[in-house]
Parts: sequence; structure tokens; C-alpha cells
Amino acid sequence: MARLALDGGPRAIPEPLPGSPGGGPGVSLIGREEIDAVTDVLQTGQLFRFNPNSRVRAFERMAADWIGVRHAHMVNSGTSALICALEALGIGPGDEVIIPGYTYIATAAAVVASGAVPVIAEIDDSLGLDPDDVHRKVTPHTRAVVPVHMQGVPARLDAILEVARRHSLLVIEDCCQCIGGRYRGRVVGTLGDAGAWSLNYFKIITCGEGGLVFTDDERVYERACFAADPALPMWMRDTIPTDGWLSPPFSAQCYRPSEMLGAIACAQLGRLDHILAHMRGLKGAFLRALEEPKCYCRQLVDDPAGDCGISAAIIVRDVLLARRFAEALTAEGLPCGTAHNDGFPDRHIYRYWDSILTRNAHHAFASPWRHPAYKGAVEYAPDMCPRTLDILGRALRFGFVMGMEERHAELMASAINKVDAALAQ
Ligand SMILES: Cc1ncc(COP(=O)(O)O)c(C=O)c1O
Repeated sequence: MARLALDGGPRAIPEPLPGSPGGGPGVSLIGREEIDAVTDVLQTGQLFRFNPNSRVRAFERMAADWIGVRHAHMVNSGTSALICALEALGIGPGDEVIIPGYTYIATAAAVVASGAVPVIAEIDDSLGLDPDDVHRKVTPHTRAVVPVHMQGVPARLDAILEVARRHSLLVIEDCCQCIGGRYRGRVVGTLGDAGAWSLNYFKIITCGEGGLVFTDDERVYERACFAADPALPMWMRDTIPTDGWLSPPFSAQCYRPSEMLGAIACAQLGRLDHILAHMRGLKGAFLRALEEPKCYCRQLVDDPAGDCGISAAIIVRDVLLARRFAEALTAEGLPCGTAHNDGFPDRHIYRYWDSILTRNAHHAFASPWRHPAYKGAVEYAPDMCPRTLDILGRALRFGFVMGMEERHAELMASAINKVDAALAQ
């Protein structure tokens, strides 16, 4: 049995991994194509998205083709894409929307912005929404569910869609962390009623800040466009005729992106297949090198072929062992910690969504919880989803980055094998 680095043995990963401090670049997403694309936009002097040679429109068309949907509308963030999807589908005051307790706070914030009440449900060993808890959380006020595909791993859509069908719920897929993920062969975001991408700096492809709302339904698309720009009927002659709206225009927010964002997004979309192939290669190498676990189970992935490959997770048998596991892995050269620990108020865990748990709105009369149309009785408490906190308290997550080669992924697995074998004793 190899001696743990924690006990003075040699490290399983002798050199810092790419993307970690001292380990070289994790990912270089911005290159010549992006620089040239932005320069071209600046040289034309036309930065406004509604123009005959629009880069934003080009991105929307490219993205819709790539995804395999009829319609896509670019906005300035993933949060705004989610808000547009919710509003387009008619979600608003009086409605409850079920979301997982493990997602970025923006998922909950988007529901609140639409005027609806977020209902927080448990996750399971997939680290995504637990379909059984969705079923338990349905009330007469539930209108929709938002499965979130976290860290490149699609949620358990078969079971979630089945629950949604049983209760006639709308499904908005939060694909902000899962651009290009697939489920049973279809790109995520196309299995529900609408999907949302984030193109912020930390995402699989990025234009700094940006988002995309997409759907097959023309009426939903049109309403998402209204939700994104109150002046849209004036601008959007290239896509929708001003005299032919399927539903009456309404005014909401303005989430219009600039042409520079569109230009960068086009260049980035051109890289997506390469990024996904590289990431999937890394995760494949990692999984192949992982030995049969003794102290942990692997994250449940319904359809491994559709996983984007940007992360992997293991769920250790108990919390104390998980902490010891993380400590030992860090000493081996694979820095990590449990996803939920008392030291870090991670806004991806519902427990730290203070503005939601305290039902705080920007204005008392704009509060979804106090709206006269809301007849439900949602309750929030920091410990309301004990299973979520338990799983995240035992989950260790590992990220793969473009700067890695398969040998790095194999080293990561070998560190896990080593620690697992030692802690099993
Ligand atoms: C799961 C999830 N949903 C929504 C968002 C919101 O995206 P944005 O930051 O672009 O508004 C994010 C961004 O981090 C996210 O990770």
C-alpha cells in the first residue's frame, strides 16, 4: 500500500495540474478569432444588434442550428435568458416553480424576477434535481420545474419529464453550465419547453457576459423576445414581421447584447465541438483509470455519452471520511474540498441564498410571496433539504480544463485510487 502524502509519502501528482496555482494555463478560450471578430465590429462602427449584418443575429442562427431548435434569442446573461424563458411561458405571480437546492442563486432569482415563487427541492446522487422530491413538492400552485444541468452533467431528465407530464408542468432547462450537453442524443434545453445558456466568463464557451434563450415554439420565442427588449417590435423586422405577432407585445426588461458580444459568441461557438471533444476525452481517461471504489460512489450520470466532461464528482461514504479524503487528496496534489462545508458560503447551495430564504424583494408590493395572487404557503429554512446538504457534505468535485492532457486526468484518478485504498484500511 502506497504511503499517503499526508503521512510523508510521495505525492501521486508530483507537478501542479494545469489550471491550478503554478500549474500553467487551465484554459485559453480567447484567441485570434475572437480578437479579429471584435476588431471587425469596431471597424464597422456598428455596435447595435439590430442591423443588416448583425453578429448577434448570426450567433442566434448558428446556435439554433447547433442545438437543433427553430428559435434562439441572444441576451446579456444566463439569468436574463431564464427570466425571458419563464415570462415567455407565462409564468408569473401566483405560480410556484420547482428548482433544485443545488444551483447558482440566479436560477432562484430568475423565478423571483418573473413574479413567481421558487420552491426548493432536493438533489440526489446525480447532484441534480431528485425527481421524487419534485413529485413531493408539487402543489395546486405549481406551474413549472427547472432542471439544472450542473457542471456539464445533464440532470435525470427521463424521470423529471415524467413527473412534469404527470402534473402538467412546464419545463425550463437551465443549461447555463451545460452548453452542448446531450441527453439520449438530444442537446439539453430541447427536451423541455425552453432552454437557457449562460455565456459568462466561467462557462464552457464565453463572450464575457451573455446568454441565450431557445425553444421550438414560435409563440414562446416571440414572447421571449418581448421579454428581452421593450422596443423590440420597432427593431425586429428581420425576424418577426411587425404586423404579424402571434400574441400582443408587452414591455418588460431590456437585456439586449451588443454586437461585440455577438461577434465573440460566434467565434466561441466555432470552438465548441473541439472543447467538448477535448473535455470528454479527459473525463473518459479519468473514468477508465478510476478503480472500483471502496469508500465512495461515483456521481450518478444517467447518460454518460451526453456529459460535457468538464467535471467529475465522487460521493464519499460519510462526512468525516469525506473531509479526510479531501485533505489527503489535496496533499497528493489534487486540491479539493467537500462541496458543502461550513467554511464557505457557496451561492450554489440553497442554504446560502439569504435573499430567497428571507423572502426579500426590492419592493414590498413586488414580492412574489406577498402577492395577492399567491395562495400557496411555501416555507424556507436553512436545513429544509437535509439530503441535499448531506450529499454535498460528502461530495468532492474535480474540474477538467482545456490545458490538461489525458495523462493529467489519469493522474487525478490515480490520486483518488491511492487515497481510497488507504482510507479503506
Ligand atoms: C446554473 C446557473 N444558472 C444560471 C446562471 C446565471 O448565468 P449568468 O451569470 O450569465 O447570469 C449561472 C451562472 O453562473 C448558472 O451557473
